[in-house]
Amino acid sequence: MPVLQLFAPIAADMSAVDTLIRDRLYSDVVLIRQMAEYIIHSGGKRLRPALVLFAANALGYRGTQHHELAAVVEFIHTSTLLHDDVVDASELRRGNKTANSLFGNAASVLVGDFLYSRAFQMMVSVDNMRVMQVLAEATNVIAEGEVLQLLNCHDADVTVAGYLQVIRCKTAKLFEAAARLGAILAGAAPALEQALADFGIHLGTAFQIIDDVLDYSADEAETGKHLGDDLAEGKPTLPLIHAMQHGAPDLAARVRLAIETGGRDDFPTVLEAIQATNALEAARRHARAEADLAIAALQALPPSVFKDALLELTDFAVSRGF
Ligand code: IPE
Ligand code: IPE
Ligand code: MG
Ligand code: MG
Repeated sequence: MPVLQLFAPIAADMSAVDTLIRDRLYSDVVLIRQMAEYIIHSGGKRLRPALVLFAANALGYRGTQHHELAAVVEFIHTSTLLHDDVVDASELRRGNKTANSLFGNAASVLVGDFLYSRAFQMMVSVDNMRVMQVLAEATNVIAEGEVLQLLNCHDADVTVAGYLQVIRCKTAKLFEAAARLGAILAGAAPALEQALADFGIHLGTAFQIIDDVLDYSADEAETGKHLGDDLAEGKPTLPLIHAMQHGAPDLAARVRLAIETGGRDDFPTVLEAIQATNALEAARRHARAEADLAIAALQALPPSVFKDALLELTDFAVSRGF
């Protein structure tokens, strides 16, 4: 798997993070253990923890707190997925039934809260006010992003700028926090810390644009998620905005209606409009531009195998099929 290959320079760190994740999942409440283990050991890519580790290593960090913070960001990510799958009514995640379809919405929301608050217990143990600031802000902005997205659902007038605002909040913010945390632990100068943060924002933005492309084009066996979940929720993502802006009036009108109605019935029609306007290629170009900004942000970072891996990660974000 390319991602794992990319993680070779941090293999030992990743396995330490894995052990920590396993330990910190513990609860006396059996349902929490069952569900948390179900979702967390189901094979996520672990990109966000890798970002913490790469950033810390690239800046010469020599301690072990990066393991704790890598686990923290994975817990936060996982809790947002538990909540997100309830909100999006998704049934497949990481190739398995989602927690909500297996255990129910109530249990998913509550175990999501457990993971969120466990992440905060772990974060406090690092005892660093800057770290707490970064994570408190990131989680708050992610929540704002998800609410903003909820408000945008079924709204076919959402602009590219409005779309980008949502994905920067709901997705890129955690990438930013992950990269920034690595820099903070390493005691980086403010300019370098900001460079890592900028890298994270642009990488995360590219990553979510491609996620939205994959919702119309992926091999479900590769992503482990169902196609068409975004349309079902009436989400005005970049491919649809492009198709409405560049499609013939009748096709544009059909996409508009599909967003307003939601559901899966219009999926073939929307695909037709997407193909007619090369909307997926346009979205991929946008993701590529974000990836280029991420690369540019790393200019001042000293050369290392960790920097190389961060640069490779930008290619993965754009060309991935899962
Ligand atoms: C899924 O993220 C949610 C998005 C922000 C698109 P990932 O694709 O990183 O999910 P896992 O952890 O690898 O399953
Ligand atoms: C990512 O958006 C949501 C979060 C940041 C939690 P999506 O809704 O597109 O993610 P997937 O496709 O369900 O993984
Ligand atoms: Mg979703
Ligand atoms: Mg998605």
